[in-house]
Amino acid sequence: MKLKITVLPGDGIGPEVTQEALRVLCSVAEVYGHEFSFEEHLIGGAAIEQTGSPFPPATLDSCLASDAVLLGAVGAPQFDGLAGDQRPEAGLLALRSSCGAFANLRPVVCYDATADSSPLKAEVVNGADVLIVRELLGGLYFGAPRGINDEGATREGFNTMRYDEQEVERVARVAFEAACARGRKVTSVDKANVLETSRLWREVVNRVAREYPQVTLEHMYVDACAMHLMLNPRRFDVILTENLFGDILSDEAAVLAGSLGMLASASVGGGTDVYEPVHGSAPDIAGQGLANPLGAIASAALLLRHTAGLEQEAQDVEDSIRAVLERGYRTADIQGQTGKYIVGTEEMGTLVSEALAELADMRHAYHAV
Ligand code: NAD
Ligand code: IPM
Ligand code: MN
Repeated sequence: MKLKITVLPGDGIGPEVTQEALRVLCSVAEVYGHEFSFEEHLIGGAAIEQTGSPFPPATLDSCLASDAVLLGAVGAPQFDGLAGDQRPEAGLLALRSSCGAFANLRPVVCYDATADSSPLKAEVVNGADVLIVRELLGGLYFGAPRGINDEGATREGFNTMRYDEQEVERVARVAFEAACARGRKVTSVDKANVLETSRLWREVVNRVAREYPQVTLEHMYVDACAMHLMLNPRRFDVILTENLFGDILSDEAAVLAGSLGMLASASVGGGTDVYEPVHGSAPDIAGQGLANPLGAIASAALLLRHTAGLEQEAQDVEDSIRAVLERGYRTADIQGQTGKYIVGTEEMGTLVSEALAELADMRHAYHAV
């Protein structure tokens, strides 16, 4: 299998965790005899510093010519004063919309080995396995008009939450399809008691649900969902929601997994799929080799599964992550009670690569018998 991947390390811990995801992808290529080519480009603050733009044309061209994009993170405090469309985060939004990636899949898995890293009781998080399907190209993030009006006596900021039926329908379909392959339950999360966009969202989701009689659909208000996620996460299978609600709920759901650094994501549905950990550039720990690379590595596993169709390879990467955690290795953010060895970013990536090679060797030996 040949794959062309554009790599966008970005800012802060982005380059550190991306390096480890690449290490694991290189191991996969070597062990299974695939040919992955990587082309690195600028995005975010790093791109602003070198080119003046958070999403330079050379980056766009490479992304559009690739099978997939692997991104680290963008954003740094020194750019916080820039106008909205010039900030590092604008580069990320431009990337997502140029790639047409409207469905953001954010799996939240609570591994047995790290259940005690969550501040929630182990009996609450044990076995939690939720897939958040977040709409990624609509809502307040992209709705027009938007701006700051300084004509009146007092300045006024405004954004527009807007969804058309087709935007809801296509992401709802992704959620129902995903549910068919999992627990066959979709919880559609909205604020239909207040917002028109949510009322339309509900109508469309109900309509799509009729095509999937094998899937149970429930609707839930976003405020209640935030509470139920902490109270009883196992009641959820697939959560389908709009852009901003999904952003907030996914960081909250990271508490189930023990750390934001654990969560991976796949943004699909367009011409090029984008893979990135859910976390940001973590300026508070950047440059210290402390960042947890498992979210980035798990994003690489999603790439293998969704873009390349390499299910066995994807599972092996996920099993390797699990094996390393079961052996007691932790980055500082997931120490808990059972962590025996605290390791840095690079060591964690190396451990996963080695576990992957071991897994492949074992399979080889098994077939040779
Ligand atoms: P953040 O996700 O960067 O960090 C939140 C907290 O989680 C911090 O304490 C951080 O140290 C910790 N954390 C995050 N990832 C970690 C990891 N892999 N290992 C260990 N600890 C980890 O969010 P923030 O601090 O609110 O935002 C920082 C910058 O990142 C901002 O500029 C923001 O816009 C940007 N951001 C970018 C993305 C992205 O590129 N996809 C996502 C979220 C935030
Ligand atoms: C995320 C981030 C981004 C978002 C920001 C950095 C634009 O928080 O990927 O979760 O809000 O989508
Ligand atoms: Mn976010």
